[in-house]
Parts: sequence; structure tokens; C-alpha cells
Amino acid sequence: MKRFTNLVIVASGCVLASGRVLASGRALASGRALASGLALAGVGALAGASGFAAEVMAQTPAVPAQDQQVVLVTGSTSGLGKELAMRFGARGDHVIVHGRNEERGAEVVDAINAAGPGSARFYRADFASLAQVRSFAETLLADYDRLDILINNAGFGSAPDERLLTEDGHEYRFQVNYLSTFLLTHMLMQRVLDSAPSRIVNVSSGAQRPIDFDDVMIENNFSGGRAYAQSKLAQVMFTHDLAEELEGTGVVVGSLHPATYMPTGMVLRLGVTPRATIAEGADAVMQVVDSDEFESGQYFSGLRQARANAQAYDAQARARLKQLSEELTGIRCRLGRCQAVGGR
Ligand SMILES: NC(=O)c1ccc[n+]([C@@H]2O[C@H](COP(=O)([O-])OP(=O)(O)OC[C@H]3O[C@@H](n4cnc5c(N)ncnc54)[C@H](OP(=O)(O)O)[C@@H]3O)[C@@H](O)[C@H]2O)c1
Repeated sequence: MKRFTNLVIVASGCVLASGRVLASGRALASGRALASGLALAGVGALAGASGFAAEVMAQTPAVPAQDQQVVLVTGSTSGLGKELAMRFGARGDHVIVHGRNEERGAEVVDAINAAGPGSARFYRADFASLAQVRSFAETLLADYDRLDILINNAGFGSAPDERLLTEDGHEYRFQVNYLSTFLLTHMLMQRVLDSAPSRIVNVSSGAQRPIDFDDVMIENNFSGGRAYAQSKLAQVMFTHDLAEELEGTGVVVGSLHPATYMPTGMVLRLGVTPRATIAEGADAVMQVVDSDEFESGQYFSGLRQARANAQAYDAQARARLKQLSEELTGIRCRLGRCQAVGGR
């Protein structure tokens, strides 16, 4: 893995280096505008086209140094993502901190900037809104000309045991944990390719359940645990597809179960007794980020290579998931070039 002084992006929202926060209403408006633009152009061509992106740039004059890696860690306002963001900052990277909670996002940014030698910015985006994910990606494309490491970490756990829907009308965990990651990753892909050798890490879980393609949104026999486990397996399936697509590009992609029951927000909400530390989970993620032996597409459980649920190795199931994801997000992408599908 190449080393610069570092630039890291942590995904989960839109907060600024200055601690100022983006207006969410603007994010939604620009997201809607972007959807039609995707029909005509590659995603990169749309960067900077929205007023939303222009406003962000105006408020955030700080740019990464030439020799800094840029790292995006989604869901870095707490838990595992926060620990990862701090680690990237400590080794000198520029970290893009993401989440919904602006106050906690600003705290992480302040801590990274104060500790040095790295730097950070916060971006707020709710992954329960595909429009906000589009705006988030568009803003990053306008703000950054490289993305060395993408850590797809943002996630919502199995508690509460309630069937929730996103503003797009999809089952909540499926969209927040998987579908938004699918959309964000594809929209940012040109930057990742431009930065090769680069790396994408999908933080999945050992909790995995096969997708029932007759009831993907789990209208029958719902449980929060089933929804969470389905979304986590979808991440692994996505990883395998990406590894195939990105072969020979210098972009390595992997997925992992970081550690079991770390004392993070989602585990505390579940009410179970923690069994591992957040540091253990972060060690596992950093191994996937840094290891020269890591082969694209591999799945790890902690520090060891492991086998995911059988559906992850089922090419037909993966093709079905990919097609569904393209229909639900409205884009079909290959190697950073995207086109609209489904009349969007
Ligand atoms: N904890 C464990 O033992 C364990 C085990 C296996 C896998 N994992 C995985 O590790 C990852 C990190 O989770 P964690 O344990 O650190 O949990 P956590 O403390 O609850 O952190 C979750 C992060 O995701 C963000 N997030 C949640 N909902 C979001 C939404 N709708 N839109 C945007 N961001 C959202 C949160 O940001 P805001 O609060 O600012 O919205 C927060 O930064 C997850 O992918 C999880 O599945 C955890």
C-alpha cells in the first residue's frame, strides 16, 4: 500500500472543517436535481454542477496537502468509525468524517485537527435518503480530486426490533447499510480509480442471512436481526462484484466482520454485554487497509480470512442483487462511468 502523509474520508454526513454545518434542505434539493443529470453524463461530469456543492466549497477553503492521502470513513461520528478516523488522522491522512450527528462530527474533526499531523472535515448525510447520498457524493467529487481509501462503515443495527422505512420507501437497514453504500461507492469510483493503488473496505458483520428475492424489503416475518443480517450479506456480495469489476485497476476491495459485540452505539442499544473492544475491531479494519498480502474480494473475520454466507458465492444471486440495486438507485456504473436506468 502506498504511503503519503495521509488524506482520509469518513462517510456519514456533511460537516465542515470550520465546524459549520450544511443545511440539509439544500442537500435534498440538489440531490433531486442530480438524479436527472445522471441520465446524460458520467457522475464525475456532474461534480460542481449544483449550488449545494458550490456552497460547500465556499465554506471549506481547507484542502488536503499534495502529499496527504484522502480517506473517507462513513459513519465516523461514533463507535468503530470514530476510532478509525482518529487512527487515520494520527498517521497524517486527511480524513473525511461522515455521519448525521453534527455535534459529534465536529468533535471528531476537532480532535483530529488538534492532535495532528492529519486533518479532517465533517460532512453530514442521512443514508436513509438516496437524494442526500447523491448530494454527498457530488459534493465530495467537487471538493476532492482524489480518494485513496474508502471505508464503508456507516450502519444501523438490529435494534429496535421494528420494521422501519426510509424516505425512499425501502426497508431501512437494507438501504442504510447496503443500498446507500452501493450508490456512494459507484458515484465516487472515478476518484478511487484515479488514486490507484487505492482501497475500498466494506465493514460488514458475521451476522449474515440470505436475501429472499421474493421479499427483499421483508414485509413478512420481519425482525430487526434478519434485516440487519440481510443487509450485511448484501455488502459482502457487493464486495465480490466490485473485486471482479476492478481486477487489474489497482483498486483492492475487501469486506470483514470487525469484532463481535464491541461497545458501540448499536450494541448498547441492543442491550447485550460487549465481548470485544473497539480497538480490536479497528485493528482488523486497518489490517485490510494496510496488508500487502490482502487479495481483492477476500472476506475476513477479525484478523483471519473467513468464509461468508454461501449466497455471497452464488453468481446468480449476486447478479440479481446488482440488477435490483441499479433499479432502486437509478444508476448503472462500470469503472466509474455511470448511466441512468429505469427512466430516472
Ligand atoms: N459493534 C459491533 O460489535 C459490530 C460488529 C460487527 C459489525 N459492526 C459494524 O461496524 C460498523 C460501525 O458500527 P458501530 O458498531 O461503530 O455502531 P455505532 O456506534 O452505532 O456507529 C454507527 C455509525 O453509523 C452512522 N449512521 C447510522 N445510521 C446512519 C444513517 N441513517 N445515515 C448515515 N449514517 C448513519 C452513525 O452516525 P450518526 O449517529 O451521526 O448518524 C455512526 O457514525 C457498522 O457497519 C456495523 O454493522 C459492528
